[in-house]
Amino acid sequence: MIDVQQHDSQSTALGLQDRPAPGVAGEPAAGNGPLVPPLVTGAEDTVDQAQGAHHRRRWFSGRSGSEDTIQDVDHDTMTLPAQQGPIVRAKAGKAHRGWYAPAATPAPTTTRQAEILNTALIAAPTDDEGVVVGRDRLSNAPVAHDPFTAYEKKTITSPNVVVLGVVGAGKSSLLKTVYVLRPIILRGRRVVIIDKKDRAGEGENAELTRELGTEPFRMVLGGGGTVLNLLDPAILAGDGIAGQYRLLLAVAEEANDGRLLDKWERHALRVAHKATLAATEADGVDPLLEHLVFHLGTHHADFQDFSAAAQERLHQAGLGVRFLFEASLSDELAGLFDGPTSKHVQLASRLTTFDVSQLPEAGPAVSMVMAVANVWLLGTLRNQRNYQTNFIAEEGWSLSQGGTGRLMRSNSKLARGLGLSNIASFHHPADIPRDSPAVAMLKEAQTIHLYRQDRAEDIDMCMTSFGLEAGSREVLANLENGHHLMKIGNRREIHVEHVRSDFEARITNTDEAMIAGPR
Ligand SMILES: Nc1ncnc2c1ncn2[C@@H]1O[C@H](COP(=O)(O)OP(=O)(O)OP(=O)(O)O)[C@@H](O)[C@H]1O
Ligand SMILES: [Mg+2]
Repeated sequence: MIDVQQHDSQSTALGLQDRPAPGVAGEPAAGNGPLVPPLVTGAEDTVDQAQGAHHRRRWFSGRSGSEDTIQDVDHDTMTLPAQQGPIVRAKAGKAHRGWYAPAATPAPTTTRQAEILNTALIAAPTDDEGVVVGRDRLSNAPVAHDPFTAYEKKTITSPNVVVLGVVGAGKSSLLKTVYVLRPIILRGRRVVIIDKKDRAGEGENAELTRELGTEPFRMVLGGGGTVLNLLDPAILAGDGIAGQYRLLLAVAEEANDGRLLDKWERHALRVAHKATLAATEADGVDPLLEHLVFHLGTHHADFQDFSAAAQERLHQAGLGVRFLFEASLSDELAGLFDGPTSKHVQLASRLTTFDVSQLPEAGPAVSMVMAVANVWLLGTLRNQRNYQTNFIAEEGWSLSQGGTGRLMRSNSKLARGLGLSNIASFHHPADIPRDSPAVAMLKEAQTIHLYRQDRAEDIDMCMTSFGLEAGSREVLANLENGHHLMKIGNRREIHVEHVRSDFEARITNTDEAMIAGPR
């Protein structure tokens, strides 16, 4: 705060009250001189220099009664610095009527320096190259962040992101905007979504996916949805026969309740896979899962040199794997992998949505689709190094168990090397078992969006896991929808209001089923 009295005292003491106004006649001076006339409007003596000098003299002498002091100053020897900078002060008359009328020359500064002037700004400004998130509730400053640019700038050491919060707090809205719609328009960006939540009979990201010009892969049991042929070379994104074998293995293990195949079973699968490819190539047909099933459990030429016991063991191991795949072709999982890949499957799009919202929670279907998505994605990432990919798994908790959890975990490890940002959302962090891969995801993530929590144990977990400031405990319990605490790396968390455009609000509002009621 500029002290009006002090400045006037100084100026008068220096004998400047009679200094003619430079610049525009009749206007007060601006510049970096020793004078900083008060900015306070309404103070009698801040206004018109011609009149103001007179006012000040009277004001000063009236208060101090010391005109003598002024006369002590030697006016002739006083050297004043040249006036600098533009004249930025408004007309004196206007200033008198309350217009903003700074007399000091503005000096260039940086946001970082300006922080100190704004005590309301509790954290360093966010990434000016990032994706806009919303506004800082304390300073009203725009907040922007992007895991990839932040990683490049070494603000964070992991591109993985976690979003936590109670039902309906605004997590999906954030993911759909900040991690899909906004970054996807940037060069070299791609998004893959595992869409788990049902909204009017399809995944909640279906509309968004169509808006962006692609059709979601609608995975449904019993036919009528998208079919993904596990032996389709396109699914491998150029990852070769070894990649295809890894996919078959992952799917078989999902069908095996997440348990790993032993070395006999794996060998039987490898041999059957090779035999399938050779036979279908000879017949000039596309390999399908049913061809593989046919070759599993048969006696292959590769086994000829083995003892009878070993041959029998491999035969039985192959049969075991065959039963697993047969289950995925039977009614239980019919419609997902049985047949050629559906025509609408465009795996090269910038947005790929695997809609698993219609698959049952229990059973291996979701995990199997996750395995396909994962193998395809890794193949794509390895072969197209110029892309940065957001891999979004909503309700990451249910996806973080069993074999899918292992996949997510291995993705997490590969994230940096492959330009992959794994983004998961969770409701209640305290419910996640300590040994779950989801806990590792929470620990690794360096971009954390914390929406409202309503249980003490969840708030405690957020406070300790993310090292939040003591004051954030209450904030966390009382955040409105669309508001969250955002913590980037080791920086202090900031209270962010996520801001959406009209289009984004329309596409992210999930309340209509609740609001509309029965029709
Ligand atoms: N930035 C925002 N500003 C205002 N309201 C918002 C904002 N984001 C979300 N909302 C409101 O909150 C509602 C729920 O949002 P959203 O579906 O994103 O929550 P969620 O946390 O994903 O819920 P769930 O846990 O059920 O998946 C939206 O329909 C919308 O009305
Ligand atoms: Mg949601």
